[in-house]
Amino acid sequence: MKLKEKVAIVTGSGRGIGRSIAERLASEGATLVICDVDGDGAVKTASEIAAQFGVKTLGIKVDVTKSDEVDALVKQTVDTFGGINILVNNAGITRDGLMLRMKEEDWDLVINVNLKSAFLCTKAAIRHIMRSDYGRVINIASVIGLMGNAGQANYAASKGGLISFTKTIAKEFASKGVTANAIAPGFIQTAMTDKLKDEDKAKMTELIPLKSLGQPGQVADAVAFLASPDAAYITGQVLAVDGGMTM
Ligand SMILES: NC(=O)c1ccc[n+]([C@@H]2O[C@H](COP(=O)([O-])OP(=O)(O)OC[C@H]3O[C@@H](n4cnc5c(N)ncnc54)[C@H](O)[C@@H]3O)[C@@H](O)[C@H]2O)c1
Repeated sequence: MKLKEKVAIVTGSGRGIGRSIAERLASEGATLVICDVDGDGAVKTASEIAAQFGVKTLGIKVDVTKSDEVDALVKQTVDTFGGINILVNNAGITRDGLMLRMKEEDWDLVINVNLKSAFLCTKAAIRHIMRSDYGRVINIASVIGLMGNAGQANYAASKGGLISFTKTIAKEFASKGVTANAIAPGFIQTAMTDKLKDEDKAKMTELIPLKSLGQPGQVADAVAFLASPDAAYITGQVLAVDGGMTM
């Protein structure tokens, strides 16, 4: 129980990797704020995690691209639990298409959900995280932010931006005892990758030295490590959880 009494917000945690992260942090005793644009998913996940792990939870509908909703999320968290220790910026989407055909609205949407959201959530929460004696910001980037990928200019730019944002936050808040790190998952089995064709999944698996897609729980284990006291001297880093794809 390495995170007992710690308060964690995980964005986009109604399902997928975010939900796994929330479960894993709860298994370490953390109090969890589950927020998602899918409000029903957030509320259901929050009550299931509370029942399974016996921790305090809150499920809130939040669109992380809207500053007023993000500010309300932070206020409700602090009003309910007294502060914030851990912020996991996980919410993310894809709108793939080759550059020449990519619509401007798909560029804007992906940048807003994947990158601007981290700015809004960190800006709103960091004051409270700094005030606590234990602070962690963990951003869920992607190997695509390190390598690029044809058909994902918007997604690659958002995740590359998230990595540089992480390093900047690490530098700005190190003196306040807050660490900031990014995780770069490879291909993880969730709704996001389920929409890919079987032949594309097979091709991807070939590129992975460990020869399998990753599981959300494996990303969550890495987040739990970075959120724990064991990672106190690690900041500004990008940890790839990718079966060896980017080595
Ligand atoms: N699945 C993968 O292979 C993979 C690989 C690398 C990185 N990632 C990253 O991991 C994160 C989670 O991905 P996932 O695979 O679990 O996807 P997912 O689609 O299963 O889950 C994403 C969650 O984010 C929520 N969300 C979307 N837009 C939102 C918004 N505006 N405000 C609040 N919540 C919003 C969705 O409702 C959903 O619950 C994303 O940032 C994604 O880019 C995933």
